[in-house]
Amino acid sequence: MGVPQGRTPGGQPDSVHCDEGDDRRLPAADRNTFIETHIRAVRTFLQNWEARLQLVNLGNEGKSQAGTDIILRKKQSSFNQGFHLLSRQLAEHAQHLTLPERVAEGEVWRRELGRWIEQAPILDRTNKRPRGYLGDSEMMRMIYANDYRGPTPVGRLLHKHSVSTPAGDAVRNRRALVADELSALANSRGPDEPPMTLLSVACGPAHEIADIFTTPAAFGKFRIVLLDQDPEALSEARENIGVVERQYPGHRVDVRYEQASIGSLLRSGPKRNSLGKFDFIYSMGLYDYLDKRTAQKLTNALFDMLQPGGTLLLGNYSTSNPTRTYLEYWCDWWLVYRTPDEFAALLSPDRSCGQSVDVGLDPSGSQLFLRAHKSLSPPASKQSNTSSESDGVGTRSNEGVLAGPQAEGSGRVPSGETMARARL
Ligand SMILES: C[S@@+](CC[C@H](N)C(=O)[O-])C[C@H]1O[C@@H](n2cnc3c(N)ncnc32)[C@H](O)[C@@H]1O
Repeated sequence: MGVPQGRTPGGQPDSVHCDEGDDRRLPAADRNTFIETHIRAVRTFLQNWEARLQLVNLGNEGKSQAGTDIILRKKQSSFNQGFHLLSRQLAEHAQHLTLPERVAEGEVWRRELGRWIEQAPILDRTNKRPRGYLGDSEMMRMIYANDYRGPTPVGRLLHKHSVSTPAGDAVRNRRALVADELSALANSRGPDEPPMTLLSVACGPAHEIADIFTTPAAFGKFRIVLLDQDPEALSEARENIGVVERQYPGHRVDVRYEQASIGSLLRSGPKRNSLGKFDFIYSMGLYDYLDKRTAQKLTNALFDMLQPGGTLLLGNYSTSNPTRTYLEYWCDWWLVYRTPDEFAALLSPDRSCGQSVDVGLDPSGSQLFLRAHKSLSPPASKQSNTSSESDGVGTRSNEGVLAGPQAEGSGRVPSGETMARARL
């Protein structure tokens, strides 16, 4: 079981793991020995659990799913403890590897442990990507549900473990964070003010939007545009909003569904103009796939689409994400991670100058939020000529989420231009 040469992923050098000249790097023979031994240890761990669950008759015909899950729930923390230990050892090893080395090892990992990956629906789906990209609305639904799924008891334990990781907590945290922030902002508006205009970019199933309609009064407070490239994600968003409308008969959510790529927002044109300006724009689960250049262009374009006094809120997994190795090896899920400074620097100095911009880390320790408020009166020196920028927009990564492993460069924010501080 040797580790083959991995495909070399695109992107720039990884900013937290080793690179070629790093003296923390292990000799290739040591790396191979570790990964081979470690895969054997994980296999033994899972086989032992299969045997253990057989002993209590789980996995045999005739046991109800609900009955099985009651027992699994009691066993989950013991499973997690052993699994965490193995995951920690793998993460310590992986931090000494370059991105191509992790990609190559990940391929071996998933091949050798594929039998269990297939039994855990979230892992099976991230590995197979039936819609051609990661983070589709079905994966999101599994993460939000955070429950037991899978054809076998050990698969159900592994699935539950996978959706309960800090990276999964971050997805659930951001749903609540966005819904709470939107409700608070809408409630702070005066009775004579028009509804708050809101744009969600890469909205997915938009659960957090459905979450804000908890009273009849909430329905008149928002005018919403939900934008996503995936028609299936938009139809799930429509279903979720349909559910709250049925809970409050006679009330309709003022929402427009836009099936479009972010490419249409990057340049000033009919699509962007038709959307207008917004009091609040947010995007969660998108920046983790955007290279630096596209992320910069999108951030500036979205900031320009804010009304004076408006807020831009963006999410991006942090380089400190403790679940990173787990995502890479088990899920084949390769994200663009950013430091707070790298994230803050996506907004160009001419936009951020004189504005309030901050970056904070969520309670799971894995996700960053960038929040930029646009002042009511633009700074005198500000020149934001977005149409002239549109000429330089690349199209490679604008049209969809990047499918393969990518790493982001470590571009530092020039001091004093933006402020990055942990606040959440
Ligand atoms: C990880 S999901 C996040 C969904 C949602 N924001 C959430 O937090 O639950 C990523 C979403 O980005 C959308 N997406 C990916 N690339 C896009 C692009 N280039 N333009 C528009 N949407 C895109 C996908 O269709 C998917 O629904």
